[in-house]
Amino acid sequence: MGDPLVFAHRGSSHDLPEHTLAAYLRALDEGADGLECDVRLTRDGHLVCVHDRRLDRTSNGNGLVSTRTLAELEALDFGSWHPGCVPADGTEVLDESHTRLLTLERLLDAVLDAGRPVRLLVETKHPSRHGGNVERRLVALLRRYGLAEPEPDDPVRVTVMSFSPLAVRRIRELAPALPTVLLLDVLPRWLPRGRLPFGTPIAGPGVALVRNRPQLVTALRAAGNQVYVWTVNKPADLDLVLAAGVDGIITDRPAHALARLGR
Ligand code: G3P
Ligand code: CA
Repeated sequence: MGDPLVFAHRGSSHDLPEHTLAAYLRALDEGADGLECDVRLTRDGHLVCVHDRRLDRTSNGNGLVSTRTLAELEALDFGSWHPGCVPADGTEVLDESHTRLLTLERLLDAVLDAGRPVRLLVETKHPSRHGGNVERRLVALLRRYGLAEPEPDDPVRVTVMSFSPLAVRRIRELAPALPTVLLLDVLPRWLPRGRLPFGTPIAGPGVALVRNRPQLVTALRAAGNQVYVWTVNKPADLDLVLAAGVDGIITDRPAHALARLGR
């Protein structure tokens, strides 16, 4: 098999604040094959790129993302908390790209403007709390951008991920041509004996699972699944997943993974 794809997890999020435009543009500059983002719904129905249910860790706000409107969230600072935004030598100038909330639309615009092929992994958070709304809005947005029925030659290709089999099934029903990843933090009993459910082509085990079960990747691939592993940041984990022969590496440090691959 060829080299695995390298995906920047929440952007180059070791170096810059996660889910900001600056972190994603840095990852593209570094040569990442793709980007990973989490999406949540605002109170007024916009898809925004935020990992946590609450605002407290990654912004100067507090409370639940889902109780705020887009305008309220756009007034917050999503970057200044990160050490990458206060460099000791003062060389990096903070601008809106480091601090402003990123909507999924803005991220899609950036990816379409990249001028080179980019894969985008979109993880829906949190499917069980919104009764399918996140998936419906996501598919509608991707349709509007012409990204819901990808062709192999398309420069920008979107894949939807979830830990929730129900969410993955919803995506398969709403947009059967969209590739999906079923994320795994524990091993379901029926794995790795066969293919993933609902025609899902890609398994997404966490690296801790791969560490505990070194044969997992081989077994999943032998059953016909592709395998993308998250979040591979440590050199030893990189060696582990490369030796295991994965199809995709999801990492906060894409430059390190690319250097290890000689790219
Ligand atoms: O890429 C999958 C990974 O992002 C899943 O975990 O918590 O970082 O969204 P989390
Ligand atoms: Ca994620």
